[in-house]
Amino acid sequence: MKNRVLIALPKGRLYETGMELLGKAGIIIPPAAGGSRKLVFPDEEGRYEFVPLKPIDIPVYVESGTIDAGIVGSDVLRELEADVYEPVDLAIGICRMVLAAPSGAALPRGGSLRVATKYPRTTERYFRGKQLHVHIVKLDGSVEIAPLLGLADAIVDLVETGRTLRENGMHVVEDVARVSAKLIVNRTAMKMKSGDVRHLITQLDTVVYENPGQQN
Ligand code: PRP
Repeated sequence: MKNRVLIALPKGRLYETGMELLGKAGIIIPPAAGGSRKLVFPDEEGRYEFVPLKPIDIPVYVESGTIDAGIVGSDVLRELEADVYEPVDLAIGICRMVLAAPSGAALPRGGSLRVATKYPRTTERYFRGKQLHVHIVKLDGSVEIAPLLGLADAIVDLVETGRTLRENGMHVVEDVARVSAKLIVNRTAMKMKSGDVRHLITQLDTVVYENPGQQN
């Protein structure tokens, strides 16, 4: 296991599209792997090993070098400000991070604005860039409920189809960032395992180049 490139796969909404992308790149993970309780499993060729992890943990493992590489959304990457290489934008998991608020209600100005989000650091940076100080309420999910229940005035969250916002009577106030999944690589692994890491980058680059924006 030591010398194979160890790659983190994000559990959750990116998992299936991530596996599909790897398949298109010729990296075949045995079907049983996804459903088994094994925490580390190889691809069919035996060149790589994969570890499914919660997305929020992936940059931590890859920055430390415990894991060589990973697939993770740029939302999580920006939030954690991890010091890793980002050699490939995988063009999957594409969505927008937005500031959104209940339709028909005026937003309080400046310091009294309460913003609920899973992304406190990104939100803080965003408002600092506008020279505004806001009160950030850190939540872990279902963020859209916070303004409806009166915990916050607005949210910073991901929008894909827009359905969640619509069904909860909210609208986009402003775009904060474009989000997509990235391949990230540990800086030392890039040098120490450069043969296999470069092979991985080429495989993924080729798929993204041949199917631009199709694997969403
Ligand atoms: C994400 C995001 C929004 C929703 C947006 O939540 O946080 O709530 O999806 O998708 P839509 O624009 O297509 O409706 P997720 O399903 O990951 O769960 P969470 O709310 O628990 O974070």
